[in-house]
Amino acid sequence: MSSERGGREIELQVGDEVLKVRSGERLIDICEHHQTCIMFSCRAASCGTCAIVVEQGMENLSPVEGLEAIVVEEVSEGRPNVRLACQVRILGSASIRPLT
Ligand code: FES
Repeated sequence: MSSERGGREIELQVGDEVLKVRSGERLIDICEHHQTCIMFSCRAASCGTCAIVVEQGMENLSPVEGLEAIVVEEVSEGRPNVRLACQVRILGSASIRPLT
C-alpha cells in the first residue's frame, strides 16, 4: 500500500513501541513525529546524539554514506549495527533502540 506521504506502510519498533510508518521516511522525522525517546540535535551527522542500535532489519535501512560512517565509528565504540537516526531512511520493517 502507498500514499501521498511516501511508500508502503511498514512496522518500525522503537524500544518497546511499534510504529506504523511509510517506507522511505527519515528515522529522525519518524521519531520526532511520534515523540519517541530518540534524542537529536544537529540533524547533520555531526553531533552523534541521535545514535541508535539496529536490533533487527539492518538490511532494510538506507546505506551508510559520507559523514555518517565517520561519526558512527566515533560513537559506537566498536558496537555493531550502530547508525545515526538523522541519516537513516527506513525502507522496510526494523527494530531499533537508542544507543545509550
Ligand atoms: S542529530 Fe546530530 S548526528 Fe544526528
